[in-house]
Amino acid sequence: MPGLLLGDVFPNFEADTTIGRIKFHDFLGSSWGVLFSHPKDFTPVCTTELACAAKVSDEFKKRGVKMIALSIDSVEDHHNWSKDVMAVSSSTAKTLPFPIIADHNRALSIELGMLDPDERDSDGLPLTARCVFVIGPDKKMKLSILYPATTGRNFDELLRAIDSLQLTAQKKVATPVDWKLGDKVMVIPSLSDAEAAALFPNGVTTKEVPSGKNYLRYTQP
Ligand code: BEZ
Repeated sequence: MPGLLLGDVFPNFEADTTIGRIKFHDFLGSSWGVLFSHPKDFTPVCTTELACAAKVSDEFKKRGVKMIALSIDSVEDHHNWSKDVMAVSSSTAKTLPFPIIADHNRALSIELGMLDPDERDSDGLPLTARCVFVIGPDKKMKLSILYPATTGRNFDELLRAIDSLQLTAQKKVATPVDWKLGDKVMVIPSLSDAEAAALFPNGVTTKEVPSGKNYLRYTQP
């Protein structure tokens, strides 16, 4: 069974969190959202990730993206763990600036296909992998990344990818390797040269290649 696919409407699950019970779509409102899962509270890699997420939370806010984490422990554990996280984070916030979903019975992790078969707790039950789901204002999934529990994520890359998602949702462009906000972008292949010339007033430059095909078309959005 495939899990959630790009373009699927993200499930409107109900869950207990550190800010109370939520319905996911109501929590998102008309914002973009990012949901990132963690294997377990009070574990080292997860703590570094949440500390980093807290530090860069203003960058998500600037982009209109609501953050929410998930870990397979209780709300009480999440509140206690959050204190450790904020003690090691260089965030200026006093408390964790986003909620954590409680999933101690793994119901949501199973529903969203997030369990890592290779990492288990002391009872032999699987832990949650490190998933990232970016959800658009239309509640559809725009990006999904899946890391095993043993590999921590990079939140700068996540912000970079969100910049690309938000730009390409507005303009008929695609962002090349290692692109950063402000860099040139590429005209998507489905646009003709005439359409591209009309759409991009800053002009389109084409890089010549041995095939003679004009598909490497750059513009400044
Ligand atoms: C961690 O967060 O450090 C971790 C959690 C589960 C498995 C491996 C590492």
